[in-house]
This record gives sequence, C-alpha cells and structure tokens, in this order.
Amino acid sequence: MTSGPFTGYHQREVPPDDVELTRVGPGTPCGEYMRRFWHPVGFVRDLGDVPLRVRMLGEDLVAFRDHGGQVGLLHLHCAHRGTSLEYGVVSERGIRCCYHGWRFDVDGRCLDTPGEPAGSRLCERIWQGAYPTLTFGGLVFAYMGPPDRRPALPVYDTFGMDGYRLLPAARFELPCNWLQVKDNSMDPVHTSFLHALSSGYQFTEVFGQLAELDWLETPFGMIYIATRRVGDYVWVRVCDFLPPNVHQFTRELEEASTERIGYRPVITRWAVPNDDTRTTNFELTAIPDDWPVDETAIAKPGFGQSSDRPYAERQRHPADYDAQASQRPIAVHALEHLASTDRGVIMLRRIVRDGIRAVGRGDDPFGVTRGDGPPIRTLAQDTVLKIPAPADPAADRRLLRDTGRRVVAGP
Ligand code: FES
Ligand SMILES: [Fe+2]
Repeated sequence: MTSGPFTGYHQREVPPDDVELTRVGPGTPCGEYMRRFWHPVGFVRDLGDVPLRVRMLGEDLVAFRDHGGQVGLLHLHCAHRGTSLEYGVVSERGIRCCYHGWRFDVDGRCLDTPGEPAGSRLCERIWQGAYPTLTFGGLVFAYMGPPDRRPALPVYDTFGMDGYRLLPAARFELPCNWLQVKDNSMDPVHTSFLHALSSGYQFTEVFGQLAELDWLETPFGMIYIATRRVGDYVWVRVCDFLPPNVHQFTRELEEASTERIGYRPVITRWAVPNDDTRTTNFELTAIPDDWPVDETAIAKPGFGQSSDRPYAERQRHPADYDAQASQRPIAVHALEHLASTDRGVIMLRRIVRDGIRAVGRGDDPFGVTRGDGPPIRTLAQDTVLKIPAPADPAADRRLLRDTGRRVVAGP
C-alpha cells in the first residue's frame, strides 16, 4: 500500500538503481560504453612538477607531463612492486618510481631499472599500463578503451567561433553518480525553480518566468529549447547534450531586454565519472572578445556548482550541487515519478542506453566520430526577438514554441 496518507512504513524499500546506465567500472556495460570516447583527465595547468593522481571510470591512474613535454597517463601502481607513481619523479623522459627507480615512458614502456646489474634486459619485458592522451584547449583528454576502437576527439563549432576565445574554465567534483549530473543538463524547468522561484534568484530575473519547453533529437545528440515571454520580447535559450557526457549551455546573463540573434557565450562541460559515486565536471568556455577576461574567475566553479558554500547557506539557497548530489549517491529510477517536464531526461537516458547496447553488439555508439570532418554544428545559444504577445495566452504559448523551433532550424 503505497498511496494514501501516512504510507511511510510501506514505502521504505529502496530498489536497486539502474545498473546498466550507472556503473562505470571496467567490464560493466556503461563502463565499456564510456571507454569508447575521449574524456578530460585534468587541465594542462594541473600537470606541474609532481604527478597528478586521478581516478577515472573506477581506475586509479597517474597523469604527468615529462620535461620533454609529453603527457602520460599510467596505471597508478608501479609494475615492479606496486608503489604509487603519485610519489614518482617526473623526468626528462617519462616518470621514475620513487621506490627502486624504475622509469616508464608515456606509452608504458620500461626505460630503465637502475638497481639491476649492468646489461640486464629485464626492462624489455616490462610494460606499465598506459592510456593515450591528447591536449586540446588547455584540457588533457584520455582514451581508455580498446586500442583498435580509438575515435577522434569530437570538435564542436563552439571551439572556434569568430568573435570568441576558447579558454579552460572550472573543474569541480560531485559526490554522486555521473548520470544524475547529466540528467540535469536536459532539465530546463529546474532553471525556473531551483535557480529562481524556489531558492531565490541566482541568475537574472527572467529565469523566473516559466518557459515553453521543447526537446529535439539532433544529428549530434539532443537539445532543449526553453522559450520565455519577457514583455514584448521572446527569449529562446537552447542547450546541447552531446553523448555520452557533454553538454553546452550559455552563461546565465541574459536579461532579454534587447534583440540579439545567436549569442553564444557557451560553456562546454564534461561530466567524467571518477567511479560510480563520484563525478568530476570539466569546462571549456567561449568568451566573447569584448569581455574582459579574469582567468582566475573563469577557473572557479559557478555559483552553487560545488561544495564551496557552508551547509547553512546551501540549505537556505540550494543550487545545482545540492539538488544533484542529494538525489542519493546513485539516483534510483524505480522510485521516480517522471512528469511531462522530464521528457528531456527520458530522451537522454534512452540515448545513453542505446549507446551502451550498441557497444554490447560490437558497434560504434552514437556520438563517436572518426577522421577529420568539419566541426560539429551545435545549437546552444541565447536569441532574443521582439515579438509582442497576442492577446490570447494559448496563442502566445503556441507562438513561443514555434519561435523556439524556428530559431534552431536556422535561416
Ligand atoms: S615498486 Fe616501483 S620501482 Fe619498485
Ligand atoms: Fe542548474
């Protein structure tokens, strides 16, 4: 009996989470899916004179940049007797384990075993586990999948727009599963409640207007379109989801008080699973050329994105970190009551599930790119048009929806 008054006693059971979509360790269906894509490991700025210990997809790893400028990502525990390479010495070439001095190149090759007798050929048989990396936009990416399935790094059109500079931005960790972090990206209704009506205005006031919502699949993933009436103006905000774990959104600065078309001060954000219950977000950002740039400010997480506020304040003015992390360490889909505003969440999960099953069949999942095609056309933007409201509210809602669709269809 789970409906009716005082049913707490009957509603205590917590069923398992949706393991097909949430578990990312080696050998799991979603873990294998994730391993078909490049993921950020850290920013180039994080690779200094000491190695960087990282946990990705349930694996403990160490990243470093040797003095020759090569970036390596190796299994954490040394192939000799397991000492952590986070205590290793970054060398001219490769990294040297602190314990007995074995040195490994960025591809895992053993370069020397200095304690062994002269002429020893032991080294030739030793390989430290290693993953390929590449750097782009100040981020270091890694590919942790089968070597023969290595894709290209997808290049989105937002990485090279006229009138904008691409810069590394923030990194922040959430103590929860990756999927609920990403669910949020296709959940535009929360921008009116969490960020305005229910916990105080966190962005501009126009976010407090309820939007006409729409979701569409695209050739590269999916988008949401949130279209709001602001006096005589119609404000169309579009965000992209790019499988498996990337989304793009505009900075929350729109006032919708003047017309503009296709404004794209975009943040591109990857949600990288450290493991099943921890997720690190990494961001690149396109900054309009006429904005002053404070790189320290850009490197900080936005308001309420991380645990950087006191609990008492987070309770009074909760934001994204609080809403997402408190859905349980792994949100339990079987206990949800999905509503009409969750259509984007349902679509996103279907894209992920289809991708996981494609990998299970031996196919490339949706979102994998190969070769050097043109940049992928994405749609995240703010567009504001002057279109006074018709008298009939239902006609205005139709007008908002049609305007949203027209904006993403382009000229
Ligand atoms: S444990 Fe690394 S060199 Fe011995
Ligand atoms: Fe949010």
